[in-house]
Amino acid sequence: MKERLEQIAREAAEAIAGADSMRKLEEARLRFLGKKGEMTAVLRGMAAFTREERPAIGQLVNSVREKIESLFTQAEALFSRKALEDRIKNETLDITLPGKQAALGHKHPITLVAEEIGEVFLGMGYEIAEGPEIELDLFNFELLNIPKGHPARDVQDSFFIDENIVLRTHTSPVQVRAMLSGKLPIRIICPGKTYRIDEMDATHSPVFHQVEALVVDKGVTMGDLIGTLKKFAESIFGGDTVIRLRPHHFQFTEPSAEVDVSCWECGGKGCRVCKNEGFIELLGAGMVNPKVLSMCGIDPDVYSGFAFGMGLERVAMCKYNISSLRWLYDNDIRYLSQA
Ligand code: PHE
Repeated sequence: MKERLEQIAREAAEAIAGADSMRKLEEARLRFLGKKGEMTAVLRGMAAFTREERPAIGQLVNSVREKIESLFTQAEALFSRKALEDRIKNETLDITLPGKQAALGHKHPITLVAEEIGEVFLGMGYEIAEGPEIELDLFNFELLNIPKGHPARDVQDSFFIDENIVLRTHTSPVQVRAMLSGKLPIRIICPGKTYRIDEMDATHSPVFHQVEALVVDKGVTMGDLIGTLKKFAESIFGGDTVIRLRPHHFQFTEPSAEVDVSCWECGGKGCRVCKNEGFIELLGAGMVNPKVLSMCGIDPDVYSGFAFGMGLERVAMCKYNISSLRWLYDNDIRYLSQA
């Protein structure tokens, strides 16, 4: 009996040492310790012993069983530790691998020119003023000397919400608000979105952007306007830029002018970019109409002012040589990031 138990213990130890997987170990456990296993068979053999012999034999059987069990426990612990180690090894992050690059955006050309223009005027002591895009007809038209039914409204085909409310067609109503506030002198630029009923094409969009400027103070002259425009054009298009004023008509300025800048491509000689003109039209300007000043509560005998306004899309297209306005709205980062 004793030899038989020692043999089982040896065989079990061998089987455990030889098991190279958890499954093989489990098979070995069944073979030695299972209900139909070797140890159970030995226990059945107890019947052959006398009552006196049984306790000693029982003790022997138990100690062998315990020994085998502890071998199994050790082997199992080894396997599960190894499994954990393998997992840790396989799941380790290789921090030396190059990461996925996060795609960074790029400031839109319209934002870029708006910021650049803002800096030029902030440097000249202007403040930035903003106002609502849904505006009163009163501020968008009437106080700018464009009464209801006036033909000058036709050039700014408008989105009306109702009879008195309109999507602003220019940022001039922000200037009206500044004049109505009564704080003088005024030196502001008004950037923002503007709306007109236009089909989208290479030079038009129903939503576009403007920056307008307004100065109201005692003794402001046309000379101040021209000097300011010249400084502005030089800052944006380069120190050699020349400006040209052509007489024009706006309801809210008197006199009024359209302002051109010398072609940055050919320097004024005439080329494809300026269509042989030598100059490119950039903005509208003029001395604030005294009628507008007095409608906005400012005494035109004491104060005078100038104003000008431009489309930011146009400035961006000029500055970055963009052939169609559509490029600005197609949202193709490959194109926009070249600005
Ligand atoms: N408000 C004018 C427009 O949008 C531009 C402008 C502003 C012209 C100021 C003259 C003076 O057409």
